[in-house]
Amino acid sequence: MSPRSERTPLLADRPRNSEDSTRRAEEEDAALHGTAVAPSSRRTTGLREIVLFAWALIATAAVIVLAVVLQHHNSTTPTPSPPPSPVPIVPGDPAAGGPYTTSSAKKPKRNLIFMVSDGMGPASLSLTRSFRQFTSSLPIDDVLTLDRHFWGTSRTRSTNSLVTDSAAGATAFSCGRKSYNGAIGMLPGHKPCGTVLEAAKRAGFMTGLVVTTDVTDATPACFASHVDYRMQMDEIALQEVGEGPLGRSVDLILGGGRCHFLPNGTEGSCRVDDVDVVGIAQEKHGWGYKSDRAGFDELRLGKNITLPMLGLFAATDVPFEIDRRNMADVYPSLSEMATTALTALEEATKDSDEGFFLMIEGSRIDHAGHINDPAAQVREVLEYDKTFKIVLDFLEKSDTEGILVATSDHETGGLATAWQAPNELPVYNWHPAVLAKANASAEYCSLLLRQHLATLDSASREDSASLMDWINKNLVIARLGITDAQEYELSTLAENPESAVIIFSRMVSMRARVGWSTHGHSAVDVNIYSSGGAAAEKIRGNVENTDIGKFLSAYLDVDVDEITKELEDKLESLPVTESEAEVQGGETGGHPEAWVKAHWGSDWVWEF
Ligand SMILES: *[C@@H]1O[C@H](CO)[C@@H](O)[C@H](O)[C@H]1NC(C)=O
Ligand SMILES: *[C@@H]1O[C@H](CO)[C@@H](O)[C@H](O)[C@H]1NC(C)=O
Ligand SMILES: *[C@@H]1O[C@H](CO)[C@@H](O)[C@H](O)[C@H]1NC(C)=O
Ligand SMILES: [Zn+2]
Repeated sequence: MSPRSERTPLLADRPRNSEDSTRRAEEEDAALHGTAVAPSSRRTTGLREIVLFAWALIATAAVIVLAVVLQHHNSTTPTPSPPPSPVPIVPGDPAAGGPYTTSSAKKPKRNLIFMVSDGMGPASLSLTRSFRQFTSSLPIDDVLTLDRHFWGTSRTRSTNSLVTDSAAGATAFSCGRKSYNGAIGMLPGHKPCGTVLEAAKRAGFMTGLVVTTDVTDATPACFASHVDYRMQMDEIALQEVGEGPLGRSVDLILGGGRCHFLPNGTEGSCRVDDVDVVGIAQEKHGWGYKSDRAGFDELRLGKNITLPMLGLFAATDVPFEIDRRNMADVYPSLSEMATTALTALEEATKDSDEGFFLMIEGSRIDHAGHINDPAAQVREVLEYDKTFKIVLDFLEKSDTEGILVATSDHETGGLATAWQAPNELPVYNWHPAVLAKANASAEYCSLLLRQHLATLDSASREDSASLMDWINKNLVIARLGITDAQEYELSTLAENPESAVIIFSRMVSMRARVGWSTHGHSAVDVNIYSSGGAAAEKIRGNVENTDIGKFLSAYLDVDVDEITKELEDKLESLPVTESEAEVQGGETGGHPEAWVKAHWGSDWVWEF
């Protein structure tokens, strides 16, 4: 996306060609990129900093709201949410989820684990590697597990944009086909495409999806549902449990997004209709259901599961790892969920001729990129790296042949491990110590600020000096570990609490000298990692993201085209959305502009 098209939906009323707006755009860019624009009038440096900061704030606030609108969904509950009240558990019908056998097994039994690091570009690896070396006092040559399994790079563009979104990105993986931004298992022209997960299920494999965001979000959705548009999450939830044209294709779902499975009018629902997806899943399709940490613990890391099993452990997103680790009694981690899935799927296939296909997503690396929060991102990547290691160890121990392929759908944030401050010479360094000091995400600090404001009467809210003091003491110093907050930073926070998430992120990034060029995605090639082996030679080097998708079904020796034919025959039963997805997708990240405008300004935009 060009900077202009990124802003267009937001600033549609502005004259675009006047000198004034050009100047404004230059200043916005300057502020966002931390470069200097010759001032139009002479001011003191201090004032100039404040003006730049304010510009950065306004421009960034506008852009991030759009980015958030584009990337994330309506959610009703800010994370972290309090532990949900226990939901009665109806055990799944074991007959419905028993191991499959097939009569003709051509290839030896095999398992495929596909990992997606949503929004993780090459710079995220440098950032995290150096952060880890710093915090653990490791030598310069110490690397991440991922680094030791570097395999190649992937080109990511979609059919309608050089900058893909996660939906087109994941459709490339699941179907092996390029599509438009916003597409969920769909090709241009409302044409569904069969996915590797569906084809694997038909061929007798067991299947699983593990994520840290909503299980209805674009990446998991692309493997087990077919809709025109990523925001059709109510429909995606239904298709994922078995209400789609193919019936049930998934055996295990672990992640967040519970709100899409509960009927409207019930506590914690974000559905527009009164459909009880959990009820349908249990009664019609035999799913077991766990909705909280206690339920997760009953699964005994996979040793006590009857499939199919639906585990929804957060109303929307699982909190960032930097925050979750302090709420481990409420939310399981990515590595815990992945361990559970590996153990459960191995057990479920132990007497079968076929193995399993498991997709594991480090979903929120992308979210940390969207809000430009490097302190949150390094912990997300470390957790992803840990999970990658767990999968490698699993494959090593397993008697069944298997492979791990891991890649990203795209980069997010235009992250750079350097940042030049306005009016300063470049500094040849960045500072992991700043990220090490932060023990909360900008998202969580912003939540704490909102909670604090809710306790204040209007008189105390107006008392900006004491609010600034509270913010500094309780959030900036205590949570972010920043002890040199500037007056203008604190007053901007006090006056714009709704933009706190990006102000906090910016305060951390500037001090760490970490740069960002966007609150959206970028077009840079992303890395591919693999457990290796001769089979994976096909995706060695620089490949197209669709080559990875084609590899997945080829490795399992399953036929996505057969599924596509079946879906085409049943096309009428796929819901049609009146959308401009294919036209608009490239410019608005997969959402029609009208949709963005309809949601413009409502509070939920910040609740992601
Ligand atoms: C709940 O959904 C039903 C349709 O399924 C709708 O008629 C009703 O208005 C919705 N209620 C609310 C409060 O949104
Ligand atoms: C195993 O799962 C069942 C059904 O969910 C549950 O009732 C039981 O308490 C679990 N066992 C353990 C040891 O957690
Ligand atoms: C974060 O660090 C501050 C001190 O720097 C401490 O007071 C606070 O308890 C820490 N929070 C957590 C959750 O570790
Ligand atoms: Zn994204």
